[in-house]
Amino acid sequence: MTLDEARGEIKRLSTELERHNRLYYVEGNSDISDSDYDIMFRSLELLEEEFPELASPNSPTRRVGGEPIEGFEQRKHFSRMLSIDDVFSEEELTDAYQRLQRLLNLNHVEVVIEPKIDGVAVALHYQRGELAFAVTRGDGVTGDDITENVRTIGNVPLRLPEEAPEWLEVRGEIFMANERFAILNQSREEEGLSTFKNPRNATAGTLKLLDSREVAKRPLEFMAHGMGRLDGVVVESILDFQQLISDFGIPVNSPIWVRDSLTGVLEVVRELGVKRRDLPYETDGAVIKVVSREQQLSLGETSRAPRWAAAFKYPPEQKETVIQDITIQVGRTGVLTPVAELDPILVSGTTVSRATLHNQDEIDRKDVRIGDAVLVEKAGEIIPAVVKVLPEKRGDGSRKYDIYEAVGGKCPSCGSEIIRIEGFVAWKCPNPDCPAKSANRIKQFVSRKALDVEGVGNIVAEKLIERGLIHEALDLFSVGVEELAQLNLGTEENPRVLGAKKAESIATALQRAKKASLNRWIYALGIPQVGESAARELSRIHENLSQLKQSEILEELKSLKTGERKEDNELLAPYGIAGEVGPTVARNVGLFFDSPEGERALERLGEIGINPASDNYAPISAIGEANGLNPIAGKTFVITGTLSSPRDQIKESIQVNGGKVSGSVSKNTDFLLAGEGGGAKRDKAESLGIKVIGEDDLKEMQASIDSAKP
Ligand code: IVH
Repeated sequence: MTLDEARGEIKRLSTELERHNRLYYVEGNSDISDSDYDIMFRSLELLEEEFPELASPNSPTRRVGGEPIEGFEQRKHFSRMLSIDDVFSEEELTDAYQRLQRLLNLNHVEVVIEPKIDGVAVALHYQRGELAFAVTRGDGVTGDDITENVRTIGNVPLRLPEEAPEWLEVRGEIFMANERFAILNQSREEEGLSTFKNPRNATAGTLKLLDSREVAKRPLEFMAHGMGRLDGVVVESILDFQQLISDFGIPVNSPIWVRDSLTGVLEVVRELGVKRRDLPYETDGAVIKVVSREQQLSLGETSRAPRWAAAFKYPPEQKETVIQDITIQVGRTGVLTPVAELDPILVSGTTVSRATLHNQDEIDRKDVRIGDAVLVEKAGEIIPAVVKVLPEKRGDGSRKYDIYEAVGGKCPSCGSEIIRIEGFVAWKCPNPDCPAKSANRIKQFVSRKALDVEGVGNIVAEKLIERGLIHEALDLFSVGVEELAQLNLGTEENPRVLGAKKAESIATALQRAKKASLNRWIYALGIPQVGESAARELSRIHENLSQLKQSEILEELKSLKTGERKEDNELLAPYGIAGEVGPTVARNVGLFFDSPEGERALERLGEIGINPASDNYAPISAIGEANGLNPIAGKTFVITGTLSSPRDQIKESIQVNGGKVSGSVSKNTDFLLAGEGGGAKRDKAESLGIKVIGEDDLKEMQASIDSAKP
């Protein structure tokens, strides 16, 4: 065969294979048998082997993936990939729509409403009809070039028809359909691999793989929801754009609705609220976007999000399932927590098979019994919870449950007699060396909000203790890399070692942890009642651990008389200490440092050479007593509306000065920081008589602190 003949044949085969691909993935009906497809595929492969100079990166043969790469190149976006402002109620949505009417000075603003896909955002760039590169959102300005991985996604066309424009950037979401996600997890479980928490995590994890051949085996899909750079063609609206790209065989988001009134929008959002449960993929919201490009451009965007779009978030989903059993978990502090073992069910994107029942009182109050049908929900990041029992579905087989009876009065982990301290509802294991307690302390120690030692998950922590390699968290620093690599995560009969690569990365993470800030270390120590925010507040008023151990502030807090407020105490007032740190925390910190365990911890830290320093140290002494109180310290802020810098940044600037940021307005709120929009929270704040401030006010507060610093 001559080169020209080969070129012709390669083109013919590629076009034909791509056509079948599109029929299969996009239109859902292919008119060719698997074996005929395979024969064509193989012929193309052979030709490309024979004429490598004719092999294109966008050949259908490349969909199976290629050689692994070292890492992802970074690529800058032509225009920023923005986020969307969320609205959490019909009231806020009404505000948002009315704002569009106001800003555009129009009664009828035409918008599209479509499901918000819970996946990973990506921009696909087609140059002269060929997929040139694909980039993740990253920080909005620059993202990872994941072209090799995206080529393996079956419904992403690698070549567009002749009439494709010079340059076409399509933005959209890569995701995994629920059903295919479940199958993937099931087979991973059978192979003894870790399972993914939800379809989104599975998608994100897959796209991070450096070996595209592995990516090709995962059931990823793409759906377009927006446009980026477009050369050689002009579109007047979102709908025109959708038409254009769907004619090219690019899958577009569906279902979508077009409405031009508030009532219309609200109706659709309600309708989608029901329909979304039947969608093949996870969605937690509806996206509302102005249709006309001209109107979009005139509305413009803030640093974070366009003014022409909003995302309506649905309240957490509740699902019905059955409690198969109730088991007991022994926590970090020895508390025995009853856990409902459920028939696994997908709730808000996660397969839930366990839900906390908190304690005996909760079991009695809700009258939860083994065998009961229950409603479960998973709000945000928290552990799934049993909302209520469905007593009308209760069968004869249901059994009441009593913690003490179930465990025969003994800790299920170490067998010690359990105790119940007067005035507390919880049963506790009093044994300080109980292995379950140690494992949970280690889990907290390595968790993201503590020392963030990636690679030490639940299984590794449990096995390290079970195999006697460590007894307490700080022992992690004395385990050798080789020892770690040899750690058997399986059973005696069926061993499965951690491996050198993972051991190395844990060792690196531990080295990094040595330099973690004081608040992370305080939290990592697992002092009872000292959560993440209390730890942060403690590190605001103490520079290091030895200061914390000898703290006069905490001494004073401990001796506060009942009813005496720290704001009225002469010594404490100037510090403006937040609500999270009170007498109980002070007492627990004291008890910890005086206990043999606390002493041992300090000693070990000294031996290893760890001396964590505060990175948010800003007690009153630094602000200058003369200037009075730090107006931010100890105050609770709620942020709403659109602001000039990213919310996280503003949040941090408040926290650095000792303030707290909460998500919702309540009587405990001190200030509502309101940007543009944000009507519902503003109304609530005003009705509660809470001070509403603007960005300038916040800046002024910060300036007064800065000017008072020595
Ligand atoms: S429109 C300014 N439509 O959600 C961006 N985005 O939270 C306009 N997303 O970055 C995007 N489904 O990655 C749009 N139907 C949809 C979407 C959607 C999911 C993602 C998108 C965006 C993020 C914002």
